[in-house]
Amino acid sequence: MKYLIVSDIHSNKEAFAAVLSFVRRKRWDKAVFLGDLVGYGANPNQTVDMLRGLKPLAAIRGNHDKVCSGFEGGELFNRIALQAAMWTRGRLTPQNLKFLRSLPKGPVLVDGRFAIAHGTPIDEDAYIFGELEALNVFRQTDFPICFFGHSHFPVIFALTPDAINTCLTEAPSFRFKLEEGVRYLINPGSVGQPRDGNPSASFALYDSTKRVVSIHRLAYPVSQAQRKILRAGLPRPLADRLAIGR
Ligand SMILES: [Fe+2]
Repeated sequence: MKYLIVSDIHSNKEAFAAVLSFVRRKRWDKAVFLGDLVGYGANPNQTVDMLRGLKPLAAIRGNHDKVCSGFEGGELFNRIALQAAMWTRGRLTPQNLKFLRSLPKGPVLVDGRFAIAHGTPIDEDAYIFGELEALNVFRQTDFPICFFGHSHFPVIFALTPDAINTCLTEAPSFRFKLEEGVRYLINPGSVGQPRDGNPSASFALYDSTKRVVSIHRLAYPVSQAQRKILRAGLPRPLADRLAIGR
């Protein structure tokens, strides 16, 4: 089975469209979404429609999906994120609000093969940035493979019986073979707001038969997404950061 794994799309239609156009030429079977479909960008309804059009096998909520759909108030959001969330809430169609509110909390087990979580499988709103957080998650769970998002940073943590290793992915296309007897926490990166210094959209394909994860980076019309953000009256830093991938 070949899975398309996308996370942190954040209402960025241009970035998501680039991913969908790239994977049209690839073979894949099922789409999986790790949360944060909306928030920050200027096209919330379009990105929700695009994901719904993929008929994802599994999709979970992110912290922005909760606040943008009114499920949570956003008390922990910074001023800019909250402003964007309120703007988004006012523009989502009733059907798309309903869809966002219906997204389950992670972790969710997919096909009995791997788990998906937004932040971590223990706490959907917590971050995994480095090996200490990853080790803590490995110790408190027993998933052999878990895909996660939230940090907007593509990375693979591998726990062998002797050590924990970090694998930073190499742009534009990175292949990683998963070994038996090793546990993995894998972040495919963010489609709509990468924060690893590379502005290209990031996503993964996972071939469960060959046990190969490939993480891809795609250039997309960043200036178009930025123009829409500014035209919508959303905060300027949300447009600026797209160009630098921070
Ligand atoms: Fe996010």
